[in-house]
Amino acid sequence: MESNYQDRIPNNVSLGSNRSLQRALEHWQPEFLNWWHGLGPSDFNASSVYLRTAISVDTKGWATFDYVKMPDYRWGIFLAQEETERRVGFGDHVGQPVWQQVPGEHRSTLRRLIVTQGDTEPASVEQQRLLGHTAPSLYDLRNLFQVNVEEGRHLWAMVYLLHAYFGRDGREEAEELLERHSGDADKPRILSTFNEPISDWLSFYMFTYFTDRDGKFQLKSLAESSFDPLSRTCKFMLTEEAHHMFVGDTGIGRVIKRTIEVMKELGNDDPIALRKAGVVDLPTIQRYLNFWFSSALDLFGGDSSSNAASYFANGLKGRPDEIKYEDHVEADSSFTLELPDGKGGVRPEKIPMRNAVNEVVREAYVRDCEKGLARWNRHLEEAGYPQRMTLPSTRFRRTVGSWANVPTNPEGKPVSHEEFAARRDEWLPTGDDRTYVHSLMKGVFERGKMAGWIAPPERGINTQPVDFEYVRFN
Ligand SMILES: [Fe+2]
Ligand SMILES: [Fe+2]
Repeated sequence: MESNYQDRIPNNVSLGSNRSLQRALEHWQPEFLNWWHGLGPSDFNASSVYLRTAISVDTKGWATFDYVKMPDYRWGIFLAQEETERRVGFGDHVGQPVWQQVPGEHRSTLRRLIVTQGDTEPASVEQQRLLGHTAPSLYDLRNLFQVNVEEGRHLWAMVYLLHAYFGRDGREEAEELLERHSGDADKPRILSTFNEPISDWLSFYMFTYFTDRDGKFQLKSLAESSFDPLSRTCKFMLTEEAHHMFVGDTGIGRVIKRTIEVMKELGNDDPIALRKAGVVDLPTIQRYLNFWFSSALDLFGGDSSSNAASYFANGLKGRPDEIKYEDHVEADSSFTLELPDGKGGVRPEKIPMRNAVNEVVREAYVRDCEKGLARWNRHLEEAGYPQRMTLPSTRFRRTVGSWANVPTNPEGKPVSHEEFAARRDEWLPTGDDRTYVHSLMKGVFERGKMAGWIAPPERGINTQPVDFEYVRFN
């Protein structure tokens, strides 16, 4: 069967004139659609959704908006415009021309980096597959599906690289990306955060704010890669990723705003009273935040890492915005980590800068996370409340790196296991919290209507009004 790929897969990689790549993707596409039907959003495949579709890499008009049934979404393949004479930007080979093909000595490492990134994309779609049923509005339902189809496109982006540059083993890896499944006992997704189901919308907003933002930093690190097709692919993915974080940022902000409204109405901030009134009390939001932030921090890897050092030395994966750093080689420079001293305190340890790349990227991520908190806290400030949302310390509840399984309080002060256990319910979501948040999750599918636990957004999508019919049920 002939498919017209120029037509069906929008792309700027000359798919139409590359027969062998076309054949490989022809083989993979039905498997992708099978996966979408089996593990993508449940039950909404017949609905028409007002979706954005990437159609080019022109910054002025890179996407169109229209009603689409999700299985008919045109998952395209786009690489950001080629930079003329781009050079290796960091590491031992700085200044040499970048690579248009995969160097033999870095083949398996690059493949692993691409597969690890690629694995997270369909994983998040699987994690979120049941959320549609409890959407707080049509606006939110549409945003969920927008995120889902674009994560699907990000999978295509990685599969394109595997098919185009890694031959037979690349094709096998592409198949396995559809065979591992989030939470599967035998074949789970590679990274543990991506095996946790996301069954309520507060978690979804936290995920898109904190976990998609980890994705942003991973993509920015890979966008620095000397393997040019990987760099260009990731650069374009970042364009879409921005909206995913917007969904989380404004989603959390709207939950807080609604809670403040009810705090004003009731004249108090008692969690029991607020829950009776059907909104999420601030301490519960803070506990969710503590949970998702700390789990996203683990995704950056160990704070001292020889893998990170060799990725940096070899120019495979770098630091986001490398251009902003003074030293692009970091051959003799060092970085001071703060490690647990095993006696309830902290001790400094100097390590080579290259080994600290994960920590450097994690610090940049934390600074980026703080921006949303400032926005959310402005709602509280403007309403005249003294409470503030805070990011816990990067030492808190870690399972990766030097602070893994070292109990600390949210301020990062080491505490005994007994104290952690005794205060855990103050710091992290309890069974009760989750049961309560779940009890709020009831789908609101009437045009312009909003669930009672969340404020409406300030504006709609693509200049449409908030009460636009973002999803039409057929
Ligand atoms: Fe993605
Ligand atoms: Fe994303």
